[in-house]
Amino acid sequence: MALVLMSGLRGGVGTTTLVANLAMTLAALGHQAVVLAFDQRSTIGMHFGLDPSQPLPGFAAPASATGPINGVRLLDLAQQAGSGDLGEGLASGDFGFAGDVIHIADLSGAMASAASQLRPYADLELCVFTPSAECLYTVPAALDELPTDVGFVLNRCDDAKRLGRHVGSFARALLGDRMVATVQADEAVCEAAAMMQALARHAPASAALADIAELANRLASLPTLPRHPGSAANPISRSNAA
Ligand SMILES: Nc1ncnc2c1ncn2[C@@H]1O[C@H](COP(=O)(O)OP(=O)(O)O)[C@@H](O)[C@H]1O
Ligand SMILES: [Mg+2]
Repeated sequence: MALVLMSGLRGGVGTTTLVANLAMTLAALGHQAVVLAFDQRSTIGMHFGLDPSQPLPGFAAPASATGPINGVRLLDLAQQAGSGDLGEGLASGDFGFAGDVIHIADLSGAMASAASQLRPYADLELCVFTPSAECLYTVPAALDELPTDVGFVLNRCDDAKRLGRHVGSFARALLGDRMVATVQADEAVCEAAAMMQALARHAPASAALADIAELANRLASLPTLPRHPGSAANPISRSNAA
């Protein structure tokens, strides 16, 4: 597994939060994890306790400047994606995803061109959404636009709420095998962010963290297989899970 793309069906669904915690969980499991940030105003640093005035290292930064923080290297590629340098770097092989390092691209708040530049190199693509009427309303357009093997992650799932239950079960029926994971709504996630602390440190028993850990384990156990464009199944869909 080398490159995982994570985008949100809409803004504010928790994509950056999941990217940060997936990367930290993978690092805690002993994997080398790198987060690629594509939002000009990325909040990824917050989850790692970085001061907001502290810029993330960019494309040309030496490895020593990119961390790791909590075992994860952070790299800001927003500017390169906008200028086309990323596409050129990828095409020329200057920037690649070979080896054991797991790269997770946070595409929330990114220009659509970032996803299209990265897609040919990605092993896996996940789209995060929440059990809201707005997300459900947007799913059909996303199913038309996104490649058929993109998996969906339902975040902020809350079965104690009637609307959450109904929207959740409707989404499951609509998406079938393409729903690859659910992450529970958990106040500890917001609290950890507000304290600029890693969720695992702030609330090790967090229900959301347990769900994120399950997804991280499934990502880590994926064989390094090239993505097959046009494939109907996401490689970590539940039906494929052991
Ligand atoms: N599982 C969760 N439970 C509760 N709150 C969450 C969860 N995941 C994310 N959040 C909250 O949702 C808000 C948006 O998260 P963020 O990661 O910035 O979204 P995005 O990157 O999609 O814009 C934040 O306040 C975050 O703390
Ligand atoms: Mg974000």
